[in-house]
Amino acid sequence: MNQTLSTIVRTVVAAATLSAVAVAAHAQGNVEAGKQKAEMCIGCHGIPGYQNSFPEIHKVPKISGQTAEYIVASLKAYRKGDRKHPSMRGIAGSLSDEDMADLGAFYASHANTTAPETPRAPSVEVAALIERGACASCHGANFSKPIDPSYPKLAGQHADYLFVALKSYTVEGNNVVGRNNAIMGGIAKQFTPAEMRQMARYLSTVEGELRTVPQSRFR
Ligand code: HEC
Ligand code: HEC
Repeated sequence: MNQTLSTIVRTVVAAATLSAVAVAAHAQGNVEAGKQKAEMCIGCHGIPGYQNSFPEIHKVPKISGQTAEYIVASLKAYRKGDRKHPSMRGIAGSLSDEDMADLGAFYASHANTTAPETPRAPSVEVAALIERGACASCHGANFSKPIDPSYPKLAGQHADYLFVALKSYTVEGNNVVGRNNAIMGGIAKQFTPAEMRQMARYLSTVEGELRTVPQSRFR
């Protein structure tokens, strides 16, 4: 190869590599950009134990420590209307794909990685329910290692939120309550509300990667 040609080849290869990096960075989201964008989330998700009153009183979910993929997938479900919670629909509707990727990267970066490997054992009764629903086959070991990054971690999530979320998969034909999800719809409908409450209570006691990272508006 002559000198000029090899320089051109090297430049083209370098440019192609750079743009591939730029695309990957975009798809992965940017933690710093996400931190700025999270200003509009901290009033609810940045206050430990913050309560939401719709459709019944429950704590706002912990989102710090979920995977970026799950945060993006759930935000898209609100934006599309598959998840009907009105305030989250309004918020997600104002976000671009890039905003969602940045927010996902930011909240994923908060994972608590010091959780023990061995989960707290459930009661015999709860173990049977979890076995029946094959929950761990998707939500993973310790309910913290989902088999697909777009599936949620459940360990350590607030019990009252897990209960409301489980019930929401069974609601049909309501404009403001419910979640359309083929997988969880089929599963949740196999359980009574009392059984859901028992599973939710247990899952909330399993130490996992989820947490609420307190964030002040006044930084
Ligand atoms: C007014 C309070 C409020 C604000 C502000 C808010 N959220 Fe939420 N968020 C909620 C509530 C309540 C839920 C549970 C909704 C449901 O039942 O589906 C939720 C659910 C979520 C979920 C799904 C969690 C899960 O485990 O499935 C994600 C992700 C999320 N919010 C991200 C955000 C982001 C990112 C922002 C800022 C851009 C934000 N939220 C702003 C109240 C809020
Ligand atoms: C075949 C795979 C699969 C199985 C089995 C499964 N899940 Fe899920 N689960 C999912 C997926 C995917 C989602 C996300 C759905 C969505 O986008 O709303 C989910 C969501 C959830 C949520 C909502 C979490 C949140 O943060 O909002 C809860 C609670 C839940 N599952 C509990 C359970 C329980 C309890 C069992 C067993 C009885 C179970 N799941 C079995 C795949 C599964």
